Amino acid sequence: MSTRLPSRGRSRLAAVAAVTTVAALALTACSSGSDDASSSSTEGSHAVTGDASQVEVFTWWASGSEKLGLDALVKVFGTQHPDTKFVNGAVAGGAGSAAKDLLASRLAKHDPPDTFQAHAGAELQDYIDAGQVEDISSLYDEFGLRDAFPQDLIDRLTVDGKIYSIPAGIHRANVVWANPKVLEFAGVDPATKYSSLQDWMKDLEKIKKSGKQPLAIATTWTQVQLLENVFLADLGPEGYSGLWTGVTNWNGATVKAALDDFSTLMSYTNKDRDGLDWGDATQRVIDGEAAYNIMGDWAEAAFEEAGKKSPDDYTYFPTPGTDGMYDFLADSFTLPVGAQHPGGAKAWLDSLSSRDGQVGFNKAKGSIPARIDADPSQFSPYQQDAMASFKQDIIVPSLAHGAAVPVSWLTKISDATAKFTTGDSDVTQFQADLFQAAINH
Ligand code: GAL
Repeated sequence: MSTRLPSRGRSRLAAVAAVTTVAALALTACSSGSDDASSSSTEGSHAVTGDASQVEVFTWWASGSEKLGLDALVKVFGTQHPDTKFVNGAVAGGAGSAAKDLLASRLAKHDPPDTFQAHAGAELQDYIDAGQVEDISSLYDEFGLRDAFPQDLIDRLTVDGKIYSIPAGIHRANVVWANPKVLEFAGVDPATKYSSLQDWMKDLEKIKKSGKQPLAIATTWTQVQLLENVFLADLGPEGYSGLWTGVTNWNGATVKAALDDFSTLMSYTNKDRDGLDWGDATQRVIDGEAAYNIMGDWAEAAFEEAGKKSPDDYTYFPTPGTDGMYDFLADSFTLPVGAQHPGGAKAWLDSLSSRDGQVGFNKAKGSIPARIDADPSQFSPYQQDAMASFKQDIIVPSLAHGAAVPVSWLTKISDATAKFTTGDSDVTQFQADLFQAAINH
């Protein structure tokens, strides 16, 4: 049985072209507010200096495998910067569902943490436009990062020649995680390859008839992540990216067909979903209560934490219809304007960008290092496959994880999705709401 993530083997050139389009999309309309922002540590790309006695690190990695990832990084930090005290500012809630609101209110009150987690792309752009994060380009020179990260990624992070964050690693959001024993119980061959969502739905039906839950899901953001997977599968990378650039018609028949597929997939999910977070849904696959979970590859860390081994205990494959596409997101850390301990933030950024920091963190987190000099053999088979895919697949920006659209648009899409999945499931109304969200966010 293969658990490899196959790829259509598109040329790197095609991938780079797609990345460039996506980067242009995510980084357009930039008007950096850093010029008029008061700086605690830097002006423009000046050196970062200041109080290094401690660092408050704001994330949403508060429990489970996510906390293990953070712990792994803190361990490296403790070795590299023993004189700087780590202060854990984690706020629970997957995908930052609670953390982002709290962060927004702290930033509005000019009470920022010393560094915070943000998604590379449109989400980070929001903070840049609001003048809430410093230009830390100088750290790229000081830490020797310009050659350590792939040029594509540096381009994606650069806004008007400035860089405002340092990525901790790269996640993939279009992965299906499966329990082979549940599949066999339902008479489904775990090695089956699916070319489309329609193809896959036939087996979801079989699993339903076996009495097991076909697809485990959780609260709204995980449903939005399912929606992005469906758009990617049904519209392809150009059609998907066109949703965020205005090229794909939100009122058209292709979007309607995708929403019908989303509706069908939701009918195979657990009804108690809105009270669950991602870890609960993934756990149902781990425990053999559900067959599948579509989840970012932080799920890999959850299977590992549970002591499960692939391919006997779990398998994985790109969401049917998305083979050869890498639904990308990157957790990137910042230096907020007005941070009290900029020297502490600098120390944290130094550790998370170091080879030891990236290896320690990503090994534990399920993601792959942003650095190009990590040794793949140190990582799990899943992560080795992901590293290979990232090099050759078409890269598209994640919707649910801040790469594709600004927070204001994502909020409206999330509201429309919650209305659809908790209400009367009217696809026509859902499409109208998504159209409104696209023109009015
Ligand atoms: C994403 C984040 C990941 C992981 C996930 C689930 O937004 O980038 O690192 O934490 O949420 O909480």
